[in-house]
Amino acid sequence: MHNEFILVKKSGPLTGQVLVSGAKNAALPIMASLILTSGVSVLKNVPHLTDIESMVSLLEELGAKVEANYAMGTLTVDTTLIHSWHIPEYMMKKTRASIVILGPLLARFKQADVAFPGGDAIGARPIDYHLKNFKKMGAQITQMEDLISLKAEKLFSQRFVLDYPSVGATQNILMAAVLVQGVSCIVNAAIEPEVMDLIGILQKMGAQISLEYPATIKVVGVKKLHAVEYSIMTDRLEAGALLIAAAITGGDITLPNACAQDMELFLMKLEEMGHEIIVDPQGGIRLKSSKNPVNVSFKTAPYPGIATDLQPLIMVAQVVSNGKSEMIETVFENRFLHVPYLNLMGARVEVLGSHKAVIIGVKKLQGATVIATDIRASCALVLAGLVADGVTRVYGVSHWWRGYESMDQKLRDLGAEIEFIKL
Ligand code: EPU
Repeated sequence: MHNEFILVKKSGPLTGQVLVSGAKNAALPIMASLILTSGVSVLKNVPHLTDIESMVSLLEELGAKVEANYAMGTLTVDTTLIHSWHIPEYMMKKTRASIVILGPLLARFKQADVAFPGGDAIGARPIDYHLKNFKKMGAQITQMEDLISLKAEKLFSQRFVLDYPSVGATQNILMAAVLVQGVSCIVNAAIEPEVMDLIGILQKMGAQISLEYPATIKVVGVKKLHAVEYSIMTDRLEAGALLIAAAITGGDITLPNACAQDMELFLMKLEEMGHEIIVDPQGGIRLKSSKNPVNVSFKTAPYPGIATDLQPLIMVAQVVSNGKSEMIETVFENRFLHVPYLNLMGARVEVLGSHKAVIIGVKKLQGATVIATDIRASCALVLAGLVADGVTRVYGVSHWWRGYESMDQKLRDLGAEIEFIKL
């Protein structure tokens, strides 16, 4: 919809307290994991996002009955009548996370007919780590242009060594392995909090999973998993975005349900910029901003490193801090698409190659008309609008709806001037 945009005005210091929603990137694989069970499960703290609606459609396509009560944050999913292992291409293209349906389908039916997933254009994003390990597990894979078929007589437990700690590949292999007889290990596994949340629900279903040195997930196959009730973790990416919004506007906010352990290195770097971070041992994070923040270099990395999904947002904080810094993006090779728009607003960011940006802090930004190219860029541009003189119009609103639940309302509750405009 090209006639929709987010209008952001320069806003005073954000102050107050808001609750953080459930995590999209935990909820999506957790929804897929329900395919491993037969019965009625209830998921709580599910955010209302278009990516979640797309995953609901995928489950329904397979034969699940889903009752969504987004006002309550619950999804009731009956997987008893799941009968299909085929997902139409147009459905796979809606999100990247659709790929995590493969592992559960392989576990349940020993076959799956899907297409290459869609998702944000932030890198090449191949799925070779997924496919080569499914092959190692015993699946035969046929690929015809964009369509992929997997079929196995039997699945075998193995030692799966990942080239890189890919979040999606770890989740997919884990879900395929939980019902496979014997001991499977995923070595060099992703250990993101969202992976831990998936392990949490699988364990509650009856799976036997443990973590071993070094970054290895060990699975002892069980015969059956049962339906469960499970509450999704809070979103560390939304928490990070809100903290940055407070930091750049000279604000002071508290997020009572944010989990500091999920973002320790990120919080440490905000402190290095001069902001005060107060972690409540009972849970919750408060940020009291520095009036004169200094520019600090960041580097994204798999957890416990700084999340690549926070990179475009952190850059906004760098753009308006004193001095010069670098941003090294190590996870994706095309994740600086927000930079030309930040520069249009008066930022001084130079992209060097595919993984490095140099940022020279500026005193002020000017409002502009900008276009969000992916989920996290949409939020970065909104945050930049909060500190830019005048008015900023952010187009590409569909990206925002994919990833941030009621974030405009939360920012308004903290004092921001932001509204959706539909012409
Ligand atoms: N990679 C491969 N081959 C593979 C898999 C991954 O080369 O088979 C590469 C990717 O191209 C990338 C790197 O490995 O360069 C890491 O990718 P990863 O598989 O970890 O990412 P993902 O599972 O596709 C999830 C999140 C992303 C987040 C990344 C990294 C979901 C639904 N998506 O993607 O979130 O950036 O992990 O933490 O969980 C977002 O929410 O905005 C988002 C993009």
